Amino acid sequence: MALADRDAAAVADRRTFAIISHPDAGKTTLTEKLLYFGGAIHLAGEVKARGQNRRARSDWMKIEQQRGISVTSSVMTFERDGITFNLLDTPGHEDFSEDTYRTLTAVDSAVMVIDAAKGIEPQTRKLFEVCRIRNVPIITFVNKVDREGKEPFALLDEIADVLALDVAPMSWPVGMGGTFKGIYDLRRNRLFQRAPDATGAYEGGKANLSGLDDPRLEELVTPEIAAHVRDEAELAMAGYAAFDAAAYRHGDLTPVYFGSALKDFGVEQLIDALAEFAPPPREQPATPRVVEPGDPAVSGFIFKVQANMNPQHRDRVAFMRLCSGRFRRGMKLTQVQTGKTIAVHSPIFFFAQSRELADEAFPGDIIGIPNHGALRVGDTLTEGEQIRFTGLPSFAPEILRRVKLGDPTKTKQLRNALNDLAEEGVTQVFRPMIGSNWIVGVVGQLQLEVLISRIGAEYNVDAGFEPSPWETARWIAADDEAKLKAFIEEKRSAIAEDRDGAPVFMAKDAWELNYISQRHADIRFTATKERH
Ligand code: G4P
Repeated sequence: MALADRDAAAVADRRTFAIISHPDAGKTTLTEKLLYFGGAIHLAGEVKARGQNRRARSDWMKIEQQRGISVTSSVMTFERDGITFNLLDTPGHEDFSEDTYRTLTAVDSAVMVIDAAKGIEPQTRKLFEVCRIRNVPIITFVNKVDREGKEPFALLDEIADVLALDVAPMSWPVGMGGTFKGIYDLRRNRLFQRAPDATGAYEGGKANLSGLDDPRLEELVTPEIAAHVRDEAELAMAGYAAFDAAAYRHGDLTPVYFGSALKDFGVEQLIDALAEFAPPPREQPATPRVVEPGDPAVSGFIFKVQANMNPQHRDRVAFMRLCSGRFRRGMKLTQVQTGKTIAVHSPIFFFAQSRELADEAFPGDIIGIPNHGALRVGDTLTEGEQIRFTGLPSFAPEILRRVKLGDPTKTKQLRNALNDLAEEGVTQVFRPMIGSNWIVGVVGQLQLEVLISRIGAEYNVDAGFEPSPWETARWIAADDEAKLKAFIEEKRSAIAEDRDGAPVFMAKDAWELNYISQRHADIRFTATKERH
């Protein structure tokens, strides 16, 4: 039996997506404009107030203010023309690849924002690779065309070459930088021009034309600019792939939109493209069977846990991506990993400026489940079926540090803090077989600063780090248990357990790791661990 018709329609009308970009390409600005044009927020004098708003939104976390970056991901839901959009925010800083990776497991498509002056930057490329592994289809938004940037042809060629993707231009900038006059929609033959002011008089700036050769183009811009855009757009349409929805959904082709998030160009077209082309909730990899969104029983997985979202109330919220069934408030769900039953009485939906109780939710939706630490990243929740979603790995840490306590009477608080933050996925914690010092493992330097700042602010523990003798760690396993045991005995001083009790080998450097792993061919050294 599949979902009822109404439920199936609700699934078909959902778009769960993330924005991937390099810091500064304009993700925050674009997010705000998507929410604005999606009717979710009202931005009076928004551009000037932006910096302040951003701070107000994330005031629960000091480090965000200090650094001016967004460290944690969140979810924003908005509706437009009958479509429900769930936008999952990914942390923009390059140190946060692990959290970002997990967020990307919870989306069905992505928008890649590129700065027109900079082209493909390193972080964009990294995130793109993650999307490619999971066949997440991508719509490209070339931002900041109101400024001097690279030529549109150069940008399209760069995307095609660097990412090995077909590109299909969907719109074309009419002038750029100083000569910027607007955006031409190649599919619908509409010209979007500069809005007279920032008060929303945007409609006035849209003209429907009969085609690129419509003589009104000369009147709307200048004869020179009209001639230029005609030449370029015709060349582009002849030279690049035509849009092909199937190739896009396979991740082989990216439709490219030009725009300016700051000046309100191209944002509505982007929303329309997501509504028209982006896939609704997709099937999710799981064992022993793949889960279809149309399956009637509720299932989902936790891709993020956030503690202390509000320091006044020590709450902890697990973010669940619903994968199948219609969820209803009060449902009892089984945490497959432990067999425990959890009654979900106060599930939360995240809107741009508020949180609301979720009475029902559909595949593709993200609901927040308040809990006291029972739910962990990677958990599968079902109505009882023994399935587990796969593909939510932990990454081997690249930095290992010993935790040093300022006040020795606070050992217990420190343990709690590390436990909580490890549950959230902010850090990994290892307990060496020999010695009593905890070792924390992170994938980037900034993560250490976040850790110390949160241990201080949320747990009132003065802690610091000191170097550990190890630089890198790998999970170890073997088909032959006896061989694994022997290896652990032999290397006792370099073995630790992770939070789940899984054995980990810590090496002084990459050379040692390589050397040891070559000499122990029976042992598997892995840099990622799937959470089961
Ligand atoms: P991010 O989240 O990807 O890091 O980028 P963010 O939106 O914060 O934008 C980075 C900078 O680029 C901001 O300027 C923003 O105003 C500017 N920007 C974003 N979109 C556009 C656009 O379409 N055109 C132009 N010309 N600029 C754009 P800032 O001065 O660094 O930030 P702020 O001090 O104004 O907040």
